[in-house]
Amino acid sequence: MRVHIRPVQRADAEALAAIYNPEVIETTVTFDLVPRTLEEQQVWIEEHLGTHPCIVAVNDEDQVGETGAQGDKILGFAVVTPFRARPAYATTVESSVYTHREARGRGVGELLLREILAMASDLGFHSIIARIVGANESSIKLHEKVGFSLVGREIEVGRKHGKWLDVVEFQYVIPDTSR
Ligand SMILES: CC(C)(COP(=O)(O)OP(=O)(O)OC[C@H]1O[C@@H](n2cnc3c(N)ncnc32)[C@H](O)[C@@H]1OP(=O)(O)O)[C@@H](O)C(=O)NCCC(=O)NCCS
Repeated sequence: MRVHIRPVQRADAEALAAIYNPEVIETTVTFDLVPRTLEEQQVWIEEHLGTHPCIVAVNDEDQVGETGAQGDKILGFAVVTPFRARPAYATTVESSVYTHREARGRGVGELLLREILAMASDLGFHSIIARIVGANESSIKLHEKVGFSLVGREIEVGRKHGKWLDVVEFQYVIPDTSR
C-alpha cells in the first residue's frame, strides 16, 4: 500500500469520526465516552488547521480507508494539541495518532507519528507528550520505536467500561537540529 500525508481539511470530518468513534465506543484507548457528532468533529478540525496541526495519511493504491475531502481514502490521522493552558507550557504539545482498523500493522501509524514530530519541530515546539492507557501495548511500542521515553505511570486515573485505567506518559524532546 502506497501512502502519502496531507494536512487535514474541513471536509475530512466524516472520515475522521469514522476512524475515531469506534475507539470511543468499543475500547479504552481514548478517555472520551461519547462518540463525536459530525459537527463536533468539524469544530475539532477547525481547531487543528493552524499552529496545532492535524495530518492525515491517504491511501494511493486501493480502497481501504474512509473517503476524505478530496475523494481520497483516509487511513489515519495524527494531531498535536496544547499540553497545558499556562503560558510557560506553550512550547510543549500532546500528540495523538489513530489508524483505520483495516490499515493497521502496515506502517501507517509510524509514518503519521514521525511526520507530526517533524512538523512540531518545524513549528518550534520543543517537547511532545503522549499519554497512553496502560494496556495499549501497540501504542506504547509505536512510541518507543520512534524515540519516546517513559516518564511515568498514573495509577487508576481513568474509569471506563467498568474498569480502572492507568495512564503511562511518554515524552519526546526535540533535538536542537533541523529536519
Ligand atoms: C497504535 C496505532 C496507532 C498503531 O498504528 P499502526 O498503523 O498499526 O502501526 P504501524 O504499523 O505503523 O506499526 C509501527 C510500530 O508500532 C508498534 N506496533 C504497532 N502495532 C502493534 C501491535 N499490534 N503489537 C505490538 N506493537 C505494535 C510496533 O513497534 C510497530 O513497528 P514494527 O512493525 O517494526 O514492529 C493503532 O493500533 C491504532 O490506531 N490504535 C487505536 C488508537 C490508539 O490506540 N491510538 C493511540 C492512542 S495513545
